[in-house]
Amino acid sequence: MSDEPLVLGIETSCDETGVGIVRGERLLVDAVASSVEQHARFGGVVPEVASRAHLEAMVPTIERACREARVRLEDLDALAVTSGPGLAGALLVGVASAKSLAVALGTPLYGVNHLAAHVAVDVVEHGPLPEPAMALLVSGGHSSLLLVPDVTRDVRSLGSTLDDAAGEAFDKVARVLGLPFPGGPHVDRLAREGGSVTIDFPRGLTSGRDMERHRFDFSFSGLKTAVARWVRAREESGEPVPIADVAASFQEAVVDVLTRKAVLACRENGVDDLMVGGGVAANSRLRAMALERCEAAGIRLRVPRPGLCTDNGAMVASLGAQMVSRGRSASRLDLPADSSMPVTVVQA
Ligand code: KG4
Ligand code: ZN
Repeated sequence: MSDEPLVLGIETSCDETGVGIVRGERLLVDAVASSVEQHARFGGVVPEVASRAHLEAMVPTIERACREARVRLEDLDALAVTSGPGLAGALLVGVASAKSLAVALGTPLYGVNHLAAHVAVDVVEHGPLPEPAMALLVSGGHSSLLLVPDVTRDVRSLGSTLDDAAGEAFDKVARVLGLPFPGGPHVDRLAREGGSVTIDFPRGLTSGRDMERHRFDFSFSGLKTAVARWVRAREESGEPVPIADVAASFQEAVVDVLTRKAVLACRENGVDDLMVGGGVAANSRLRAMALERCEAAGIRLRVPRPGLCTDNGAMVASLGAQMVSRGRSASRLDLPADSSMPVTVVQA
């Protein structure tokens, strides 16, 4: 037998029902059931539809995870669940399921922060996180720069988006370009065919007083509006819209700002390790530019494989296992589903 804790993690903050199982730092299984196709025709996630889908997927996904990992629920050392932030109804399904399991099995339960879990997942890919590490978290709901002295209990926010999250900007621009939801992966793919014409889109909060006041904050709504205006002007003049070039120039603007501020945050805080996580970390241009700029600045870069960047249960299990290994106490069984859980609160 192993001394490493066997932990099952449940994630239901948005439209993915994720169930992952880890043994210490080793990923045994990452089972994900997504309801994304049910939301596509609405152009965004519909909370009630997501909650219903979680209800239907929960038990089959837990059973699949256990079967594939050859693990019995009775053998688990701990359970972990996303307590927040996220969609209230969706979170409730995960939290209620985890509590039921914890009571039935007599197993300790850790309610964890979704954003800290996006950081913690990298441990199953690249080993223990250096302390402190810097984390650039970019997803559909969040864009944050985090200083992480200890992902199990000390996460500090250096800055975040003032308006749209990076993934939200990708999704909205994709819509303007007539691409399906969620748009991030489509923009990423299309942008590879573009770039022959460069459109100079704005980089929010990167110069003058804005940069002074919002050194590590982001703003993408001005960029999104600039793209929509540019496309509309083209359409009105009757000229064809070069959507691949627009996608490439938009993506370049987002990725430029994200990587520039992340490297600056590392330098100014004396941190040599940058972790990039969240759904947008699956973006190929972000991965390439982050690598280029980190190498130039002598910073070590850690980015999980794309499947572990988007929402999943392995990230929750990974954070739970690190909490067990560090001797953290389990959460109380009345732990909440907190849709607006602050990024600095790691455990509920
Ligand atoms: O972390 P995540 O799965 O869910 C949230 O917690 O929000 O992130 C989803 C977001 C969506 O906005 C999606 O368009 C974006 O991540 N995304 C991407 C890529 N893959 C997913 N954005 C840009 N390029 C990608 N390859
Ligand atoms: Zn997420």
